[in-house]
Amino acid sequence: MLHPFPSGFQWGVATAAYQIEGAAASRGPSVWDTFSQTPGRVLNGDTGAIACDHVARFREDIALLAELGVRHYRFSLSWPRILPEGRGHVNAQGLGFYDELVDTLLGYGITPLVTLFHWDSPQALEDAYGSWRSRQMAHDFADYVTVVVQHLGDRVNRWTTLNEIWCFTHNGYGVGQVPEMAPGTVVNRAKEVWQTSHHALLAHGLGCQALRAASPQPCQVSLVDNYIATVPLTDTPADIAAAQAAFATVGTNGGVIFPALTGTYSPILLERLGPETPDIQPDDLATIHQPLDCLGYNVYSGVYVRAAENPQGYEVLPFPQDYPRLHMPWLYVVPDSLYWGVRHISDTLNRPDLPILITENGCATQDTLTPQGEILDLDRIAYLRQYLQSAHRAVQEGYPLLGYYLWSFLDNFEWAYGYDRRFGITYVDYASQKRIPKASFYWYQGCVVENRVV
Ligand code: FCB
Repeated sequence: MLHPFPSGFQWGVATAAYQIEGAAASRGPSVWDTFSQTPGRVLNGDTGAIACDHVARFREDIALLAELGVRHYRFSLSWPRILPEGRGHVNAQGLGFYDELVDTLLGYGITPLVTLFHWDSPQALEDAYGSWRSRQMAHDFADYVTVVVQHLGDRVNRWTTLNEIWCFTHNGYGVGQVPEMAPGTVVNRAKEVWQTSHHALLAHGLGCQALRAASPQPCQVSLVDNYIATVPLTDTPADIAAAQAAFATVGTNGGVIFPALTGTYSPILLERLGPETPDIQPDDLATIHQPLDCLGYNVYSGVYVRAAENPQGYEVLPFPQDYPRLHMPWLYVVPDSLYWGVRHISDTLNRPDLPILITENGCATQDTLTPQGEILDLDRIAYLRQYLQSAHRAVQEGYPLLGYYLWSFLDNFEWAYGYDRRFGITYVDYASQKRIPKASFYWYQGCVVENRVV
C-alpha cells in the first residue's frame, strides 16, 4: 500500500465564519463588513452578507461532512456574533447557533477544532480604539475567549487562538497605501504595523491563559500560523543549512512564529527593523510564549533557497514567470513546503517536542460544470496529492505531524477576491445555494477511508 498514514492520523477539512456563515443581520458588524462594503476593496463588490448561508444550512452541510468521512472539522467563531459590541453584552442567539453546530458535529462523531479568531474583528472595537492598533484589543480578546470557553468548553476541547497573524495585521494595515485586507487602515510607519502584530501575539498569549483558566476539562491549545517554509533547492547539507538560515528572514517568520515558539523575536529581524521595531513591554514576551499543545500550520506555498557565496550565505530564489500558480497570484505550487515547514519547527526552531497539524492546505481552481453537472477539478487533485505525499514524508521520517485539514470544505468568500476564487472540494452555486461535491471531494474521501494518499 502506497503512502499509508498511522492510525489516528486526523483527516479533516477547514472553514472560517465570515467566509461561509452569512446571516450578517443576526450578529454585530465586523471589519470585513465595512471593508467589503467600501467600493473597490473586494473584487466585484462581493461581501460576506450571505456567503454560503451556512447559518441556515449548517445541518445539511454537516451531513455532507459526515458523508465525506472526516472525523475532524476546523471552523471559526464569529466574535461579533457572540459579542456584537466586541465586549460586554452577550448575544445568546449567537452562542445558541454554535451550540447547535457543535452538538450536530458531535452527533456524527466529528471532533471540532475551534478557531477563536479568523480575521472578523468586531467593528465596534475598530471604532472604539482602532482594534489591533491598541493593546486593549488583546485584553478584550481574552475576555471574549473566557465567555466562549465557559459556554462551549464542556463539549469542545481543541482550541486555536488566532488564524494567521501576518494576514490580518501586515495585510490589514498598510504604510502609505490601502492594504489588501480589513480593516484596510493606512498608517505612516512600519513600526505601527509591527505594533499590530505584536498586539495580536499578546492576544494569543492572553487567550491561551484564558482558555486554560476557564476550560472545564483539559484542553488542547494551539496557534495557527502561515509562516513561510524555506525549501532547500537540493537535499545537500549546504542547501539545507541555507534554508535553515533563511527561515527567520522570510515573510514575518522572525516576528510571529519566532516569538510565539521561542519567546524572542529573531535577532536578525530586530536588527533589520531598527527604529521600526514595535514597543515591547517587559512581560510581553513571557506572556506571548505560552506552552502550546500543538501548532497549526497553514501551508499553500513556500520559497526555494540555495547556498550562495554572499555575506549571508544563501539566496532566496525568484519564481520564473510561468511557474504554476493555479488560480491565485500568490499560490506558487511548492509541495515540499509542507515537509520543510514541519521540519523547520522541529529542527530549525528546535521544537521537536511540538506536535503539528496542517490546519489548512488547498488551492483555487477555475471550476466549471460539465454538461453532466460534474466538476472535474483534476488540477486540485494533482495539487493535493503532491502536498499529501509531502505530509507522508514528514510522518515517515518521524516528525510529529498529527493531522491534515483541507482548505476548504466549501467554496466560500475568498476575502479581497470575493466569490471569484473557489477553494472548495464542494462547489457552491451561490444563486441557488446548491452544494455539488467536486471530483476532489470523492478523491479525498478515498484518502480518508483508506488512511493513505490515493
Ligand atoms: C488562508 C486563510 C483562509 C483562506 C485561504 C485561501 O490564508 O486562512 O481563510 O482564505 O488562505
